[in-house]
Amino acid sequence: MALLEITGLRRSFYGIAALSGVDLAVESGSITGLIGPNGAGKTTLFNCVSGIVPPQGGRVVFDGADITGWRPDRIARRGLVRTFQIARGFPGLTVMENLLLYGPDQPGERLLPALCRLPAARRREEELRERARAIAARLALDRVLDNPASALSGGQKKLLEIGRALMTEPKLVLLDEPIAGVNPALAEEIGAHLRRLLADGLTFLVIEHHMDMIARLCHPVIVMAEGRTLAQGSFAEIAARGEVQEAYMGRRWAS
Ligand SMILES: Nc1ncnc2c1ncn2[C@@H]1O[C@H](COP(=O)(O)OP(=O)(O)OP(=O)(O)O)[C@@H](O)[C@H]1O
Ligand SMILES: [Mg+2]
Repeated sequence: MALLEITGLRRSFYGIAALSGVDLAVESGSITGLIGPNGAGKTTLFNCVSGIVPPQGGRVVFDGADITGWRPDRIARRGLVRTFQIARGFPGLTVMENLLLYGPDQPGERLLPALCRLPAARRREEELRERARAIAARLALDRVLDNPASALSGGQKKLLEIGRALMTEPKLVLLDEPIAGVNPALAEEIGAHLRRLLADGLTFLVIEHHMDMIARLCHPVIVMAEGRTLAQGSFAEIAARGEVQEAYMGRRWAS
């Protein structure tokens, strides 16, 4: 059984279908690519799977559990998290503080006991700091841990977004355009980080418009258009298919 199995997922906004019955599976131990033209429904799919937008039909089964309609925090605790197309986070806080806010059992409102220095909370905070330091080291952010997030480079902000997702100790991470707006050298670096995390046992579903990145990093690649999955296969297989090229009409393959 696949780690993530989506069947017949539906969602409309103001009567217009964004997802009109999506079927899709992500195998454990893969970096699965998700591509498709602007407005195809890729981000909406992430929103419905991660619990941010409730689906109006269909089923999402993750790691053997039917998580359809669960709240995002419950889904995250089960091991599925996502990053956002536009990096979120708190620009005024340091990298360390941004990571700490996303630790398991550490939503913002529970920061108060930690601040009150109760012994159990202090121990928990130290564990989380340790985890944050390890993740920062994994993502080459260790030297900027005490810098405000606003002072990070574009690529480092993307890495912080991934780091925040990793704080919840996920099995599956949904990445929404992890290299958009990042220069090619940094994009390559982010790709290398994802490969190392894959070797650590993580699984990824990656939305990306940069076809060269998708070609090098992702297998399999799934194509969405107009709220449905259109094709799936290796990058070479899907790139050769006429209906895929047609869905992308007017859009360059590599950017
Ligand atoms: N919260 C919302 N309210 C209204 N319409 C929405 C909402 N979210 C998505 N849509 C609509 O759903 C459709 C799919 O949008 P979505 O953001 O999922 O596309 P996408 O494939 O991620 O595109 P892109 O590659 O440009 O990021 C679009 O027509 C969009 O306007
Ligand atoms: Mg999108």
